[in-house]
Amino acid sequence: MSPPLARLHQTLPQLVLRTDEDSLRHYGQDWTRYYPPAPLAIAMPATVAEVQGIVRWAREHKVALVPSGGRTGLSGGAVAANGELVVSFERMNRIGSFDRIARTVQCEPGVVTAALQQYAADKGLCYPVDFASSGSSQIGGNIATNAGGIKVIRYGMTREWVAGLTVVTGAGELLELNRGLAKNNTGYDFRHLFIGSEGTLGFVVGATMRLTLPPAPQAVLLLALPALADVMRVFEVFREGITLSAFEFFSDQALGHVLARGHLPPPFEARAPFYVLLELDDPAHAGDATALKLFERCLEQGWVLDGVMSLSLQHARELWAYRESISESITPYTPYKNDIAVNISRVPAFIASLDALLAANYPDFEVIWYGHIGDGNLHINVLKPSALPLEAFRDACEQVNEQVFALVRDFGGSMSAEHGVGLLKRDYLSVSRSEQEIALMRSLKSAFDPDGIMNPGKLLV
Ligand code: MLT
Ligand code: ZN
Repeated sequence: MSPPLARLHQTLPQLVLRTDEDSLRHYGQDWTRYYPPAPLAIAMPATVAEVQGIVRWAREHKVALVPSGGRTGLSGGAVAANGELVVSFERMNRIGSFDRIARTVQCEPGVVTAALQQYAADKGLCYPVDFASSGSSQIGGNIATNAGGIKVIRYGMTREWVAGLTVVTGAGELLELNRGLAKNNTGYDFRHLFIGSEGTLGFVVGATMRLTLPPAPQAVLLLALPALADVMRVFEVFREGITLSAFEFFSDQALGHVLARGHLPPPFEARAPFYVLLELDDPAHAGDATALKLFERCLEQGWVLDGVMSLSLQHARELWAYRESISESITPYTPYKNDIAVNISRVPAFIASLDALLAANYPDFEVIWYGHIGDGNLHINVLKPSALPLEAFRDACEQVNEQVFALVRDFGGSMSAEHGVGLLKRDYLSVSRSEQEIALMRSLKSAFDPDGIMNPGKLLV
């Protein structure tokens, strides 16, 4: 044990510390897989007092800290590649007091998203923020990255569901932010500063999460489309006619990778270039007939080739599986991920330009399109050819990025819609944020984290 670690152990004898190779590798990286993990050690606090003790120790010994949740992030925000102490919240995973009147529940940061969803369901309520990684991602990480997902069009991002936060700042102070109040107009709301700050200001050590009434089982439509340009034509038709709780899209290449795993049958007799998945927000199923009429209108226009509407809850889940399995099915190809967004009204023009740009610049790589297109959010994944070394592949993708991000900037978009900035997108922050904003971010960071120990190198250079 190095002298600083021995000191940490001496100061906090109950604190679980791990230094074995497996733990260093496991806890030193997230799903990005671009950065070899090299942490100093893994700390697993069980109490807020231990977290404060870790921060005091880190300030004294000038050791960088990396907060660690479910490590399902895709931008390298939870990577420890430079001798940092990883602080895992796995042991702080209790769901605390529930307030039925306020419809809130207190969570420790290590509560897994699916566990909160199940807890809410057991109370006859719902935690509606949902994504494919719900079974591993943790509430603290969701808050630190302001995670989005598949229902943002209806329920918004994690930010909407945080009624209160308890944080330990990089200076070691314990702050109670908003205390679960619905109304609290008393100046700066630091809660919102911590949401999405990617662990650069401090640790989330507790959260009061909002719950809501569960939606009735909703009908899901999966439609096959002849062209990328038709995706937004179909969106407009349905958006005008009915309320949607999801509008997702994916390309046939994406479906090809999902089907190749052999878990799901092809959804249609014939394959099509693109697919959209719609979920209706329509409790009494009164809109099912309207949805069919809208489908027929799209069919007549030639914007849709085929379609299927769920007949049961199980069927709806099966249709969702085509979309939700994409990320996992392409993971073996170490995809270079882009998570970009433009204002929804600009999506048609943006995807036309982006399609041309990607076709011209990636002649030799497979490019997979999918995303939360109803939010204007596209996931562009470039798959690594197996023979190409990771470094060379990343360099090639970063060169194309210059043009992709120039286009994003021209369209007034965001270079990271929901995956955050982390290490992977840090050098592109100025695509989305002005010089003045970045300077203010730095000032705020030094106010909360005077020694720069909190997740250094992430988000800000
Ligand atoms: C998704 O939409 O499937 C997630 O953001 C994960 C991913 O982009 O790979
Ligand atoms: Zn996504």
